[in-house]
This record gives sequence, C-alpha cells and structure tokens, in this order.
Amino acid sequence: MSLDKFVDALPLPSVIKPVGFRNGIPYFEVSMLQVKQKLHRDLPPTTVWGYNGTYPGPTFEARRNQPILVKWMNKLPFEHLLPVDRTIDGAEPNQPSVRTVVHLHGGRVRPENDGFPDAWFTRDFENVGLKFLHEVYYYPNCQRPAPLWYHDHALGITRLNVYAGLAGLYFIRDSHEESLNLPSGKFEIPLVIQDRSFFPNGELFYPSQPDPVPPPTPEVPFFPNPSIVPEFFGDTILVNGKVWPYLEVEPRKYRFRIYNGSNARFYTIRLSSGQEFVQIGSEGGLFEHPVPTNEIILAPAERADVIVDFSNHKGERIILTNSANAPFPDGTPPTPDLAQIMEFRVKTHLSHSDHSVIPNNLSCFERLDPGLAVTTRINTLNEDTTDRFGRPLLLLNHMGFRDLPITETPSNGTVEIWELYNQTVDTHPIHLHLVQFQILDRATFTGNPLDPNNPNNPLIIGTRVPPNDNEKGWKDTVRANKDEVTRIIARFGPFTGIYPWHCHILEHEDHDMMRPYEVLQNHDFDPCIPIPGVCPDDSFT
Ligand code: C2O
Ligand code: CU
Ligand code: CU
Repeated sequence: MSLDKFVDALPLPSVIKPVGFRNGIPYFEVSMLQVKQKLHRDLPPTTVWGYNGTYPGPTFEARRNQPILVKWMNKLPFEHLLPVDRTIDGAEPNQPSVRTVVHLHGGRVRPENDGFPDAWFTRDFENVGLKFLHEVYYYPNCQRPAPLWYHDHALGITRLNVYAGLAGLYFIRDSHEESLNLPSGKFEIPLVIQDRSFFPNGELFYPSQPDPVPPPTPEVPFFPNPSIVPEFFGDTILVNGKVWPYLEVEPRKYRFRIYNGSNARFYTIRLSSGQEFVQIGSEGGLFEHPVPTNEIILAPAERADVIVDFSNHKGERIILTNSANAPFPDGTPPTPDLAQIMEFRVKTHLSHSDHSVIPNNLSCFERLDPGLAVTTRINTLNEDTTDRFGRPLLLLNHMGFRDLPITETPSNGTVEIWELYNQTVDTHPIHLHLVQFQILDRATFTGNPLDPNNPNNPLIIGTRVPPNDNEKGWKDTVRANKDEVTRIIARFGPFTGIYPWHCHILEHEDHDMMRPYEVLQNHDFDPCIPIPGVCPDDSFT
C-alpha cells in the first residue's frame, strides 16, 4: 500500500523513570501492552505491542557502573497479534502463543538476566519456560557507554514479537563521553529504522506461506498455514514508529544514534545532499577517531553513532536515503519507495549558537591482539538441512539451538578468535551475547573448513582484507558475507554461563540459526573493574 511520505513529524521515545528504589538501586517496571497507535497520517490506528504501551518502548538512560533493576511484565492478550504456527514456533507443542522474554542487546549481564530464549514467560507469569528464574532483571551497566537496545527474545517467535513492536532503546553514558562536548540534549536524536507492511485497515501484515508438505510424522499436529517466511521484507519504512517521517533541524551539528531494528532488511544509508556522515561509534561505543563516510551499511541490529552538520544547508530538505545497491540477503533491490527513509527540514535560523565539537580523540580502548588468542574456533553458517516440512533450515555449525552438546566453550577472561565461514548464499549479521568484539578481517574461501586437508575439496583462503574503517570499533553484530570467512576476536566474560549467539535476521534466528555458547570456569570477574594497562583512564573495556 502506498502512503504519502514525510507528512508526520519524527516521534522521540520518552525516557523512562524508576518507580522507586530497592536497596538503593533504581527500580523500573515495564509492562508489555497491546495498544492502538497512529503510525501514519492516513493510516487508521494500528494494533501494536509496546513496552509500557508505546512502540518503540521508552528509552533507558543508564550511567556507567550504576546498576538498575527492571521488572518486565507481560500484560498482552492470550492470542498472538500475528500468525503463529504452534507446531514449529513453540519450544514444545501446545505452548501458549504469547511467550515473551526481554534481552538487553549489547549488555554485559549475567546469564539469568540476559533474556535467554527459554526464560520466557506468559501473561502474569502464568506459564514460564524451562530456564525462567526470576521476574526482576539486574543490569550492572559496567561497560563502555554504548547504544544498546532491548527487545523480545522468546524462542521461536522473536520475529513476531519484535515485529509487533517489542523493542526499545537503552543508552549507557559516562562523564568521559560528556566531556567531549558532542551534540547533546535535543541535538542528540535516536533513529530506529524498521520496515513493516500494513493491511488497508491499518493493521500490521506479516506474511504466512502455505505449507508445501504435511508433516511426515502423523503424531505432529498439522496446521496448514505456518508463518515461516525465509525473511520478512516490508513495503514501508518507519523511523521511531512513524512511517517515512520528517524532522525539523536547526542549521548546526546533530548526533544521530541510528539503529537498524528491522527483522531482515539491510540499509545502505546516505544523505541526499551528498554530504558526509562523521561516524563516531558503533554497537560497542565510541571509536578512537571520527570516520567520515558517505555511506553506511546497517544490517539488522547494527548501529551507527554519527554526527551530521546541517550548518551549510539552511532552508534545504535533505533525505536520508537507502541506496539501491543495498546488499539484501536475497539479492532483491529495494523498490523506489524504500530508497527513502526520512526527511530532514533544515531551518534557516539557530536557536543558540552551536558550541558542540567533533574531537579527533574520541575514546581509547584495547585493540585485541590476535597473539592473545588461546583458541581459534571454526564456525560455519549453513543452509544444508531441511526441517520436517522439507524447507531449508539455516544453521550454525550444522546445528540448531536445541542440539547438544554446546560446542563453543570459551574460558572466562580468555581471548578467542572466532572464524565465521559463510557457506550459505546470503549475508548474515552474526551477533554474540555478553561480549563486544573486534573484527580482524574477511577473506574469500573455497573448500571445506571442517576438513581443510581434503584433497578433493581443500580449504583455500583468499587475501585477508581488514574491515572498513567504520567497523574497527567495538561491535556486537558483524556482517558475514557469503563465500567469505569473517574473523572476529573477543575477550569472553566477565560472567560464566550459557548465552546465545545467532544470526540477527529474526526469521533466521527463529528457525534455527542460533546456538548456545558457554563461558566456563567457576568464578565470575567483577565487571566494574576494567582490564588495566592500555588507557590513561578507564574509558575502555
Ligand atoms: Cu538483539 Cu540475541 O539479540
Ligand atoms: Cu544480544
Ligand atoms: Cu541469517
């Protein structure tokens, strides 16, 4: 359906306030609610699921080393808003369809507060998953200032829960970042980009596809209309929950915290004025130095922290565009509609003069040396098995989330290199919970990484190419391109236990491109004590 562009102002999510304190720690309560929300001038109100009744949810403003507590509550209806296939979307048959659990993406938290896919709970905690432990989550915030986000992570239906609206922002800040004098306050603006499709009555459309074959085992109940599509691509782009919005800006510098919160769509963003973004950070916080760039690729869950200077564009209208050569996982070029994301309307006058700066030295952090790595793990991205409906399944290391044993078992505090050999036909954004990592390089490969010396199919690695300049900071999500091996390096910890790692294309994550990994050893480290030795202060992790 086609909707007029740039007719609604960009909304800004509100900042959530604590409802009280527990043992001196700020205590928040968040209810997931089904509400109607106006997403475009000409669209009837849409039924969405929102944390505290808003889509996107309220924004958390956290301070480094200052913990908070959050009670996440499910107050959603009993039936899902979107088509769920109970036979394959549930962890077990006949589970309630509205299962939820909240993950703080990019957060360094203990496993029991991470939003494990099996830690789901239904309305009023009536039913809970295998790994459910407690209702109130503890977030230590002992990590670098960074643009985190929280979103649903319930096993098998994350794609539908997030699509219904269950996502919100969570910023960690500190005095070092504030001392930089970057654009702040009303000149620092989050932009959460998501695609959606709508029925003419305003309701969210999520496709279901007819079942090719009935299940082979007769004891499995047969539902003729499962909701699995290989990837969801909407025909409409929303920013902060509005369709193709506009934002009035002053002719000065702005800091935009850009998130790709889409299920599957990649964006390649540019400014129609031809001007550069000055990218200052990624998922894990600020870079060492600013990186000017015309173009930024954002796969699902990737973030870009950018400064845009509108001072030479008084009175202009500038479009944030999505270029046509975006590397879609399925290779489809965007329709002309999707070549535009939002509009900036530059005013002719400043309210105050702009004293913000873009310092050359943004932050300091440890560059993880490959020589530190105690283990190099070969991981493969595969599309070589079929589910019981005969459709291809996407897997990691030829295994799905439930398959045992857990094969990735780093020891707490150690550095490892993970090689990601993509043997599928698409790019996959691979995300690890708990840690921020660095990208070492990418290289093409042929042959079999699991049997490298096989004379019939030897592993041959091409030249290792360093990451782009705007991929050299801390990342929690990396694009692993097809036919390439992407190498990342991380120091695992500071907590022990089981965490997921997965493709962040939510349709892939659900079926079944997600694996557990386990940080071993019997003691945790104090996350609030930084690793010494690299920087003059503790402005690194
Ligand atoms: Cu943003 Cu495991 O997810
Ligand atoms: Cu995550
Ligand atoms: Cu994927």
